[in-house]
Amino acid sequence: MEQRFLHLTVLSCTFLSILFQSTPTSPIRLKTSQPKDNGLRVNGGGSFKVALFADLHFGEDAWTDWGPQQDVNSIKVMSTVLDHETPDFVIYLGDVITANNMPIENATLYWDQAISPTEARGIPWASVFGNHDDALFEWPMEWFSAPGIPPRHCPATNSSYSAEEYCSFRGTQRIELMKNEIEHDSLSFSKNGPKNLWPSVSNYVLQVASSSDPESTILIMYFLDSGGGSYPEVISSAQAEWFQHKYQEINPDSSVPEIIFWHIPSTAYKKVAPWFAIHKPCVGSINKEKVAAQEAEFGIMHILVKRPSVKAIFVGHNHGLDWCCPYEKLWLCFARHTGYGGYGNWPRGARILEITEQPFSIKSWIRMEDGGKHSEVLLSS
Ligand SMILES: *[C@@H]1O[C@H](CO)[C@@H](O)[C@H](O)[C@H]1NC(C)=O
Ligand SMILES: *[C@@H]1O[C@H](CO)[C@@H](O)[C@H](O)[C@H]1NC(C)=O
Repeated sequence: MEQRFLHLTVLSCTFLSILFQSTPTSPIRLKTSQPKDNGLRVNGGGSFKVALFADLHFGEDAWTDWGPQQDVNSIKVMSTVLDHETPDFVIYLGDVITANNMPIENATLYWDQAISPTEARGIPWASVFGNHDDALFEWPMEWFSAPGIPPRHCPATNSSYSAEEYCSFRGTQRIELMKNEIEHDSLSFSKNGPKNLWPSVSNYVLQVASSSDPESTILIMYFLDSGGGSYPEVISSAQAEWFQHKYQEINPDSSVPEIIFWHIPSTAYKKVAPWFAIHKPCVGSINKEKVAAQEAEFGIMHILVKRPSVKAIFVGHNHGLDWCCPYEKLWLCFARHTGYGGYGNWPRGARILEITEQPFSIKSWIRMEDGGKHSEVLLSS
């Protein structure tokens, strides 16, 4: 542990140089407490702590001064949260980048920058896609004025790859982003979901094992791709069916608690949204915009509310909301806008989850960029 902190001090001084390194691979690997081969486990202290980084929106207006500056600020937010909380795991809850004006080569570059504070600390992590990660390409009008079209970040041409042919302005695709992440980031636990669920890609399950017995699962985390960008903002009935097959396979009797992650709130969030101010049992500090929900509901919520083991759903997408409210027998929670990219100037922070093993509980709170902490809530015990 001490050795790790020593490295961190050095790292915090060098994060800027890491951020602007052009290699797609992560620069420094520290000893990780959660080796990938062994899966995720409750730590020696009997808990498993997760930080949720939502809506970072890296890579906006990369050809201006303010674009890169807001990414530097977002790196600072993540670094502060990671150093305060020292989580066991990080979840990137969608809209990691704003891909709308990016050639694909740049998209993976910014993706890697957004992951860099987590990678540099040797913390394993996973991601789900938001509606801005996989975007149809939009030509900004200003690219047609004097400074012209900004350069691309293209790999050099070699015998098997022609930059001329492949390095082009076109929309970023989920499948390419996921390929880059899985190939280059050894601490990533993200997976390509089954092909029959495409175009949604980030559909997968991670299990957290007991600290004393690696064979015994104490928590199941389901990740679903709520769409957007190149296709509608929905969770399809095929995804709902996949979820059913999955839990029948790994948790048929609902004996293991389950939590769910996706990017865009389902329409159920609109039903419980507090009006004007937060009142108990809801917990949260801001309430300044309407819930921007998925376009349609194809059955996933119906399945989730009937399952006693499902304790909570966590989403991002609405930068101005960070509440948790009960809904039927589970909790619906927003994360907290973590990035300087994307709309809204509400102070940045991150939702933290702390799962304890003995006795089992899920606690959550928000850690802010200035180190402050608020909105603690017990989601399950
Ligand atoms: C792509 O990345 C390069 C290298 O960092 C940068 O100079 C350029 O402005 C970026 N272009 C766009 C469109 O993001
Ligand atoms: C050629 O370049 C591409 C793109 O950078 C790379 O993926 C590939 O491994 C390279 N192939 C060889 C033979 O160097």
